[in-house]
Amino acid sequence: MIGMPARMLDGVAVAAQIRLELTTRIAAFVEAQRRSPRLGIVLVGEDPSSEIYVRNKLKSAGESGLRADLIRLPATARLDEVLEVVATLNAAPDCDGILVQSPLPPALGAAAEQAVFDAVDPRKDVDGFHPENVGRLVQKRPSLVACTPLGVIELLDRSGIAIDGARAVVVGRSDIVGKPIALLLLHRNATVTICHSRTRDLPAVCASADILVAAIGRPAFVTPEFVKPGATVIDIGINRVSDAAVVHRIFADGSRRLADFERRGSIVVGDVHPDVAGVAGAMTPVPGGVGPLTIAMLLANTLKAAEARCSGLR
Ligand code: GUN
Repeated sequence: MIGMPARMLDGVAVAAQIRLELTTRIAAFVEAQRRSPRLGIVLVGEDPSSEIYVRNKLKSAGESGLRADLIRLPATARLDEVLEVVATLNAAPDCDGILVQSPLPPALGAAAEQAVFDAVDPRKDVDGFHPENVGRLVQKRPSLVACTPLGVIELLDRSGIAIDGARAVVVGRSDIVGKPIALLLLHRNATVTICHSRTRDLPAVCASADILVAAIGRPAFVTPEFVKPGATVIDIGINRVSDAAVVHRIFADGSRRLADFERRGSIVVGDVHPDVAGVAGAMTPVPGGVGPLTIAMLLANTLKAAEARCSGLR
């Protein structure tokens, strides 16, 4: 390692601060409306990662004073049954937010996810996945915006990392993460490049970034050659790895993460290689980086949706 190791951006602490701020606002909502903001979470099937995410979302919501209900459907559910649940939540006057956990079971077909996201009332769309909200984001009009991208901006702002005028490179062009992050960075006056699997000279393009966002979904894909010395590196990846050879290739002998792996048989690895800490100025760890922010912003979006509905906005 050359020079100072990167400053680790503490997503757990920033998320705790945001949740604390929300608790006060939620209490004021309860006082004024005589009810809690309510979030309906729909989980179809039993994907192990989704089970963990949903459990964390329910727990955080409850701790902040939101009411969160889990509506479960079996992996064998038909698309019309999922749409029926969404329609019921759309029609419920005291339901403020709706989240259908992704991914849906593959048996529902490739088009199911879009059909379900399209069916959510845009005013209750706390994921920001509805095309109306995506369109409003493109036009920089107030809307519900996807939670992970919002969390990245909060983490940068609250860590004192300047976005205005920065060169930002986003690797990954998904509707859920890559595209909305690129738009949020653009709206904050970053000069934004979106890269993907067909980008030529990917390491060189990434190495031009002051802010590099990795949203690829491949463990430890971003190595030191992708990173300009002193750059800020945001790791969106949540990759569960159970292949010992892969884990040993990524983590040094004697490291804490390797010990975690030996104990549990699998670990979660980000899209950014740990050696990047020797080059970057600041970076997010995995776990404990962007993940906690995503949940905090889900709570923020639920409160925002509740406040907007109760004040008749939109
Ligand atoms: N699965 C992984 N991340 C997310 C998210 O932000 N929202 C939903 N609905 N599903 C997810």
